Amino acid sequence: MTTRVVLLGATGSVGTSALEAIAAGPFELVGVAANRDVAALAAIAERFRPQMTVVSDPSAGGELAARLKPSGLASDAGADALAALAAMDADRVIVAIPGFAALRPALAAVDAGRIICLANKECLVAAGDVVMARARARGATVLPVDSEHNAIFQVFEPAADAAITKIVLTASGGPFRTATREAMERATPKEALKHPNWSMGAKITIDSATMMNKGLEVIEAHHLFPVGPERIGVVVHPQSIVHGMVVYSDGSCLAHMSNPSMVTPIAHCLHYPARGPAPVAPLDLVACGSLTFEAPDEERFPALRLTREALRSGNVATNALNAANEVAVAAFLAERIGFLDIARTVESTLDAIAGLSLSCDSLDDVEATDREARRLAQLASAAAVTT
Ligand SMILES: NC(=O)c1ccc[n+]([C@@H]2O[C@H](COP(=O)([O-])OP(=O)(O)OC[C@H]3O[C@@H](n4cnc5c(N)ncnc54)[C@H](OP(=O)(O)O)[C@@H]3O)[C@@H](O)[C@H]2O)c1
Repeated sequence: MTTRVVLLGATGSVGTSALEAIAAGPFELVGVAANRDVAALAAIAERFRPQMTVVSDPSAGGELAARLKPSGLASDAGADALAALAAMDADRVIVAIPGFAALRPALAAVDAGRIICLANKECLVAAGDVVMARARARGATVLPVDSEHNAIFQVFEPAADAAITKIVLTASGGPFRTATREAMERATPKEALKHPNWSMGAKITIDSATMMNKGLEVIEAHHLFPVGPERIGVVVHPQSIVHGMVVYSDGSCLAHMSNPSMVTPIAHCLHYPARGPAPVAPLDLVACGSLTFEAPDEERFPALRLTREALRSGNVATNALNAANEVAVAAFLAERIGFLDIARTVESTLDAIAGLSLSCDSLDDVEATDREARRLAQLASAAAVTT
């Protein structure tokens, strides 16, 4: 039977891997969206012929419609069209839009009770309580596409919950794994964007360089798996072959291994609960050679400490951490602040938000806290430039 798939973020890194998995079948792309890369999106639509193609940016709608007119394909534009696409009748909705921008479309799929293959992590960091509570209430299922969480999902035995002592996320360590703080102080966007193992979008690549990505993933794991923050560990594994592990009280440690390709976790979520083939090379452990593991260094990578502190503080702090990080990463990529200013901006924002009376118990609260944290982060990043 063909599985009908909606793909949000089709022109990006995860989106491209998802299209590879979909093309290998037995899947049908029924809906597809991107932000404003009309040329790439139209080429995808012409290849897969979905029922609906959407650009999130309303100003790009006219050009998309004009490009698709000769092929008779339907299109639409804007936030409402994106939400409608996320909720359309489908067996899987892949959410591969980066950042907080994915929250509303992800919630539209949740409210429609869909099976969501969630690559985006920021919406769980910013609003995990709201997203997961709504998913439970609406009968939606959230399947983790993020490779570490997908790995843990594959070796997590829900019935053995009490016997799970720890879940462990692996981290490549990014391009600055062995760099000194002095070297990182001078790091340019070009250097930070050179990830050793993964080819990904700019935001997540910078997050990997600061190790904020792993911190965001700790918060993501906290929402996806029934384990407290103290039972979520991080291990640096530069080869990116082991993606996640679950440690059981009998001494067993179940680990998931694969080549570092997002096609594997995406295909797993598309086929789940069955297993099916994916267009990836089989893992050759002899060719991999040594697999090594080391403890993360929270002195050189303070983002890890900040995320743990935010998780202990609660959902307002994790929301603010995400917002501040998005602002700081954009400022770094625009060369307005230095690499180490990213974590400094996040820390200043968390300090500033701590004294305010904010909540994240509803979508309105979540969006108001996000706006306030972004405002404070803009001030903090501007202060980083002047000091
Ligand atoms: N890349 C990875 O290997 C990887 C692994 C695990 C998790 N993730 C997570 O997956 C998400 C996507 O990452 P990525 O690396 O694939 O990002 P990316 O390469 O930057 O691609 C982003 C995609 O989302 C679209 N988009 C951006 N803003 C949008 C908006 N406001 N509305 C609708 N569409 C929008 C872009 O469209 P345009 O092209 O038109 O701008 C593009 O299709 C992130 O949350 C990331 O943390 C990524």
